[in-house]
Parts: sequence; C-alpha cells; structure tokens
Amino acid sequence: VKCFVIDKYLYSMRFSDETLLDIMQQFRRELAKGLGRDTNPTAALKMLPTFVRSIPDGSEKGDFIALDLGGSNFRILRVKVSHEKKQTVQMESQIYDTPEDIIHGSGTRLFDHVAECLGDFMEKQNIKDKKLPVGFTFSFPCQQTKLDEGFLITWTKRFKAGGVEGMDVVKLLNKAIKKRGVSLFLLLHVVVNDTVGTMMTCGFDDQRCEVGIIIGTGTNACYMEELRNIDLVEGDEGRMCVNTEWGAFGDDGRLEDIRTEFDREIDRGSINPGKQLFEKMVSGMYMGELVRLILVKMAREGLVFEGRITPELLTKGKFETKHISAIEKSKEGLSKAREILTRLGVEPSTDDCIAVQHVCTVVSFRSANLIAAALAGILMRLKENKGVARLRTTVGIDGSLYKMHPQYARRLHKAVRRLVPDTDVRFLLSESGSGKGAAMVTAVAYRLAEHSR
Ligand code: BG6
Ligand code: GLC
Repeated sequence: VKCFVIDKYLYSMRFSDETLLDIMQQFRRELAKGLGRDTNPTAALKMLPTFVRSIPDGSEKGDFIALDLGGSNFRILRVKVSHEKKQTVQMESQIYDTPEDIIHGSGTRLFDHVAECLGDFMEKQNIKDKKLPVGFTFSFPCQQTKLDEGFLITWTKRFKAGGVEGMDVVKLLNKAIKKRGVSLFLLLHVVVNDTVGTMMTCGFDDQRCEVGIIIGTGTNACYMEELRNIDLVEGDEGRMCVNTEWGAFGDDGRLEDIRTEFDREIDRGSINPGKQLFEKMVSGMYMGELVRLILVKMAREGLVFEGRITPELLTKGKFETKHISAIEKSKEGLSKAREILTRLGVEPSTDDCIAVQHVCTVVSFRSANLIAAALAGILMRLKENKGVARLRTTVGIDGSLYKMHPQYARRLHKAVRRLVPDTDVRFLLSESGSGKGAAMVTAVAYRLAEHSR
C-alpha cells in the first residue's frame, strides 16, 4: 500500500488547521463552562481548584517525603531543599511495584501497600524516626477544599481499587500508616495532581511557568487561573492553579464528529466506557491499541500482510505505544517495524513495514494535534486573562509519550505555535518528575501551618 492510500483510508484521523482551531474554540468554551458555578455540574471539564496559589518563589526549604502514584511508576522520594547561598534541591528516590491485583483490588490493600513501601523507604533512608511532611502526587481527579485533603472523584487509566472513590485519600493514607504502628512519624500530607507537580517542578527553574501538562499513560493539564474567575472558590485577588482534567473533554458528546470507529472500540473495551474520551484518543495507554485495531481492519481488507491475521495481532495490548515510538524512529524505524511485526507473526514485507510506519505516524500525529488544540485553548485564555497583545509564557511538560516518542515534542510545539501565533511559548521538560514540585507545594503549606500553630 502506498502512503497516500493510508492517508485516504485514515482521512478521519487527519485534521486541517481549520478543524483544530474549531476544537480549540470548543475547548475554550468548555473551560469557561467548568469554571462557572451553575454550569460546572454538567461540564465535561471538571476544572478542579488545587489551592496552589503561586509557583515556587525560591524561599522554600526543608526535608520532605514525596509519594508519586498513578503514572507508569510508583515512586517514593526524599527531597531536601536547602538554602545556603542558593536554593538547592537534593533528591533520592526508589521505584516500587504496583501489581495489577493491587490496583484492581480493595482500596485498603492499595493504601496498605503504599504505607508498606513508605516504611521500607524510610528504613532504607535511615529516617524511620524522623518527622517529615509528605507531598503526595496522586495522578487522578480529586475534589479539594484545602491542600491537605483530596476526595477521589473517579479512578481513571488502569486503576480501579474498590472503596476509594468519594473518599479522602489523605485519610486513607493516614489510616494505613497508623495501622503499621507508630514507627512512621509523618506530619502533614499535601495532595497534588501530577500536572500540578510538573508545573511546580518546572516553576522552580522558570518563574514564568504557569501551565503544567502530562502526556503519558493518561493526559491532563493545569494552569494558573485568576481567582475572580473561579466561582467555586471564595476570593477575587490573585490566582490559583486549576486542574482541568482535560482527559474528560468530549465526555458530553462534543467530540463525536471526530471520534472514529476505532476510538469507539477502544472505549467499549475499557474499564470506564463513556469516560475520558479525549484521553482515549491521545494518550499512551491507548495509542498502541488504536494502531492495532487499525491494522486488524486493514489486514481483514487485504491491505496489509497479504490478509494474514494471527492470534497475536488479535490480542488486546500486544501492540504498545512504545512500539509506535520505536517504529517512528527515523533511522532504525523500518527495521524496528519488521522486528515488532514479525513477533506478531504476520511475516511483513517491506511495503507492510512502510505502511505500518505510516499508520503509526497518522495516529501519533493526531494525538499531538489534538493536544496542541487543547493547549492552544489554555494559552488563549491566559492571554485574555492578562489582557496582553502578545503572551510570553512557559509550559512545563512530563509524561512517557512526550519524552519517548522521537517526533512528538517537535510536532506538538509546531502545531501550538501555528494555532496561537501571537504567543512566545517555551516548552520546558520536567527533568525530575513531579516529586520535586510536590515537595515545593508541601514546603509552602508546612510553613503556613507552622505559622498558624
Ligand atoms: C512522572 C510524574 O514524571 O510523569 C508522575 O512524576 C506522572 O506523577 C508521570 O504521573 C506521567 O507519566 P507516565 O508516562 O508515567 O504516565
Ligand atoms: C488521568 C488523570 C489525571 C492525570 C492524568 C495524567 O487523566 O485523571 O488526573 O493528571 O491522567 O497522569
């Protein structure tokens, strides 16, 4: 098959700038809807207040534990922020397993596991008896009225532990820690979304950072909104970071025009049908599977693999997003394609490899374009809020898809710059994950708590 045949075959996954601008406008309307008191309950974007009011200002200090749960790794970190001549951050971390049966089991078991790993970490760090504040990066939508509480609204991505939705995860964590005995003296627990952690991590290096986005297993964004526009929080002065939960864009049917049969099939086979529809079109947990579904259909129609369909090709999850990243590498891409397809048993010809590479490009390009449209909506909003002719800003980014895919970042940056030409946007990769940012938030909260004591 020639690439133009695939382009035609997948025409509904390729967007003109006109369509992207239209999506951007719809996204902007959704942002406003989520912020309004009366419109929020029916809005697809939850626009959750985070109670984070500023990015790091350089005065943060102390010794913290950061927990990072919800991405592809469960990580525990110790973050030391010191102030000699200059603010410096020292971090040590360890990754712990979160087996399938734990993330799909009972909530009690999940939090017992977290507490157990925490105990292990503190022991190894020789800080068993130290009283340290904890910054908890919890990469799921949480309702908050203050920094040290977070009621899980709904699980997303791979997680589905029973009895946690509707509960305060800080309380659940505390309970699990207490149960382990008194050896863990932990002071205060602050919950942040991973987007917020990312924005704060990047804000540490660049004071202009006011947006945080994740393009990994899932996708999401937060940004600094004017408090006067956040109906759900008292006060008019200053700004607050809002977690948009943009993965749920389209859950009210708004994206039906651009969703394809493959998107619908992914949704039907997921653990949360009808939810996180934008996320399912673009993020790492689903992109490989999208490519697989397309290849199955193309093979059925005899367009690739001479019509050969193998049990492996028909197995859900056999084609992963990391395979897309490998196949789209400019030099070794085609040989990677051959390797991966051979493992699927389809005996690919060179033409097949080229075709599959092109399918990967169409799917990952669509992802970058859609995220660009949503991000452009946020940038337009920031520009409007500030009332400036030209916006100068920094976007902090993290997530495995953005980091691992050879061309994703470049495509995203280009599309954003095309969609909002009157902005100077700097994209800053978060080098140290969201743990550092979570510690920054905790430092501020801890200082305030000390003051009021
Ligand atoms: C990490 C953050 O760097 O990126 C996590 O610290 C976050 O909190 C993650 O969830 C997102 O990436 P992925 O690709 O692991 O889902
Ligand atoms: C999912 C979660 C969201 C998180 C994102 C990235 O969309 O709902 O809270 O930020 O994944 O990890």
